[in-house]
Amino acid sequence: MSKEAKPIVVLQDVHKTYRQGEIEVKALRGLDLTVEPGEFLAITGPSGSGKTTALNLIGALDEPSSGKVMVDGRDLGAMGRAARSRLRRDRIGFVFQAYNLIPVLTAYENAEMVLRLQGTDEGSRRERVMSLLREVGLGGMEDRRPTQLSGGQQQRVAIARAIASDPAVTLADEPTANVDSATADKLLDIMERLNRERGVTFIFSTHDARVMERARRVVRLVDGRVESDEVRA
Ligand SMILES: Nc1ncnc2c1ncn2[C@@H]1O[C@H](COP(=O)(O)OP(=O)(O)OP(=O)(O)O)[C@@H](O)[C@H]1O
Ligand SMILES: [Mg+2]
Repeated sequence: MSKEAKPIVVLQDVHKTYRQGEIEVKALRGLDLTVEPGEFLAITGPSGSGKTTALNLIGALDEPSSGKVMVDGRDLGAMGRAARSRLRRDRIGFVFQAYNLIPVLTAYENAEMVLRLQGTDEGSRRERVMSLLREVGLGGMEDRRPTQLSGGQQQRVAIARAIASDPAVTLADEPTANVDSATADKLLDIMERLNRERGVTFIFSTHDARVMERARRVVRLVDGRVESDEVRA
């Protein structure tokens, strides 16, 4: 990776305070983080340390109380709502802990969702989605609905959906939390291969030490700040 590459994600002194009536929860307290294109990064830390909050801010699903969030070179705080939605749709891929597939749609239809929203023509959608589904090991299962797939298979559909439109960064909040460790390993294999071969940038959160080991960089949050930031060989 060249040193000149522009960061995909920059968080500068980010604070996030949730308010519920009288109660204030300081979820992030001065979080700084820079992520370069092509990284395979795990965010870890104890429950409540701010992992989900950080991913939600990077994904433009929520706004910081103060500080700067930049994604793909754009300052989210300086953008209007519509532009932010477009950036989210076109430049950010999401994988959720609970898969979040649409139950009435097939694996194929779920995976092509973002391309459809972007107005990609049917031929290009088909080519892209069929090859991605094969790549994540779901060849022949295109017509199954989520209820006809195992948890690991549903998460593979979610990974295909997340990267179908070639986002600048793919965010995954505890993507392996609901699957057994053998399935978690396979999902990591898929993510790693997409990272290596297609250059997909992944930022994922995890509690699982085994999943953490697979990352090339591990950022540990404690009390809403970076406690350690370790790049692996
Ligand atoms: N919508 C919300 N309203 C109020 N407090 C919240 C909200 N979301 C999160 N919090 C609080 O903010 C803090 C950070 O939460 P967050 O979900 O980011 O942690 P996490 O590191 O993802 O934890 P976990 O490992 O359990 O998923 C916690 O104290 C949590 O209770
Ligand atoms: Mg969380």
